[in-house]
Amino acid sequence: MSKEYDVVVIGGGPGGYNAAIRAGQLGLSCAVIEMRDTKKWGGTCLNVGCIPSKALLHASELYEEAEKNFAGMGIKMSGLKVDLPQMLKQKEEAVDGLTKGVEFLLKKNKADMFYGRGEVTGATEVTVHGDKKQVLKTKNIVIATGSEVTPLPGVDVDEKQIVSSTGALDIPKIPKHLVVVGAGIIGLELGSVWRRLGSKVTVVEYLDRITPGVDAETAKQFQRILKKQGMEFKLGMKVTGASTTKTKVKLSVEPAKGGETETIEADNVLVCIGRRPYTAGLGLENVGVKVSDRGVVETDHFRTNVPSIWAIGDCIKGPMLAHKAEDDAVACIELIAGKAGHVNYDLVPSVIYSAPEVAWVGKNEEELKEAGIAYKVGKFPFMANSRAKTNHDTDGFVKVLADAETDKILGVHMIGTNVGEMIHEACMTMEFGGASEDIARTSHAHPTRSEAVRQAAMGVEGWTMQA
Ligand code: FAD
Ligand code: NAI
Repeated sequence: MSKEYDVVVIGGGPGGYNAAIRAGQLGLSCAVIEMRDTKKWGGTCLNVGCIPSKALLHASELYEEAEKNFAGMGIKMSGLKVDLPQMLKQKEEAVDGLTKGVEFLLKKNKADMFYGRGEVTGATEVTVHGDKKQVLKTKNIVIATGSEVTPLPGVDVDEKQIVSSTGALDIPKIPKHLVVVGAGIIGLELGSVWRRLGSKVTVVEYLDRITPGVDAETAKQFQRILKKQGMEFKLGMKVTGASTTKTKVKLSVEPAKGGETETIEADNVLVCIGRRPYTAGLGLENVGVKVSDRGVVETDHFRTNVPSIWAIGDCIKGPMLAHKAEDDAVACIELIAGKAGHVNYDLVPSVIYSAPEVAWVGKNEEELKEAGIAYKVGKFPFMANSRAKTNHDTDGFVKVLADAETDKILGVHMIGTNVGEMIHEACMTMEFGGASEDIARTSHAHPTRSEAVRQAAMGVEGWTMQA
């Protein structure tokens, strides 16, 4: 009789590979399937998402730093220029190293790796359509097939002139003018990359604000800083169509509320209006797994309506973030193993890796107002933080929101250099149900940017000392 696995995971991204690792750790036999042509593990995140985007953000930030700020620091240099092929190559090296690292971890944890499209052909059976067809029998199936770019009708992505985030990671020539459609995380991160490298960047956004979901005061400050850096915004505008010539893209844009159409000419257009769950060719209909109108696999504690089939990561509800997919994976496998897996979705942090960074966890002011929760605010600007002043890097602030009665921290919002690292102090405190006073009375090393978090926490009770 052929082997029966405890778990077969479909998809090798942060959801899938972490599920396979945790399964191995808990002594469950596991197979994991990935259909990427390159046979590289790590999913969207490692191949065309988090990692390559951060590699370009890092390199382009160093370039801008050298170009704009070295002289003021007393560092003289000449002949500075961008070597785009090398910049793209070092990005690929980062991707290669990390995808190989995931393959090593899968082997270490005894996962059987299969290449090809996984199709659910029964409640306990997955067929791999690879070089050859293989049928895997299993007690449990975990769907971790991730997400794909949401298309924009009338603006067809060719990954050359009109690109999605994937094409935007590999534009071979710095565009003179890049138009970004959607002022969300991808648009502002990748828009920042190309602006720093010399592109004029125009961001067209449907809403009358950028980064919906981000605390409004923080988003406003963020937009102000991006504008100061040279990014242009057209808010409250919708793109109605695009046409291309050999070298240019012409975008038709009109006010979201209706009005006159204008044409914007660009060398490249980046379409980034969101992502949607990816379940094409997966065969969910073969076994009747329920999927919402918007394509989200419906789950209750990761279990679908078919008891042996589970789902995690971008293809289920919740934020589409790599660490959320990882958290889902651990909890789901622990539940399969009979343990008490759980994810606290209220405390999944978010970071936008622009310069400055934006980071937040918990509720924002608008959400607290809407829920009718009385809260106090403590806020501290980096302008008054000694390390930020020393480094001539004072944009941004830290804002702590705490329950007006109990002082329990309800949300923390930050904008500034390194806040993507600093947010975890807030996550930990909140995970333990901590109060603003807990942060305010915790010693913070001097001089660090983290002192701004302490000063903001002090501000909740009105005793900020350094501003
Ligand atoms: P995915 O990573 O999408 O992995 C799913 C995998 O399943 C894919 O490799 C796919 O090929 C495979 N697959 C699909 N169907 C099948 C099938 N039938 N058979 C076999 N294999 C299949 N998140 C962050 O937290 N931080 C960031 O900085 C960040 N930056 C990002 C930047 C960009 C440009 C993009 C696009 C995304 C970014 N994200 C970031 C989001 C992050 O990449 C996703 O949230 C994360 O990858 C989701 O993990 P997942 O395992 O659910 O799905
Ligand atoms: P997004 O949801 O962050 O932003 C999309 C933006 O497009 C929104 O502002 C929305 O109002 C706007 N929009 C929607 N339709 C539009 C239209 N027709 N015309 C103009 N604007 C329109 O989506 P994005 O940037 O594509 O990113 C997708 C997801 O990828 C993110 O939500 C996040 O989950 C993940 N991601 C995370 C990163 C991180 O954690 N640093 C980095 C990049 C992506």
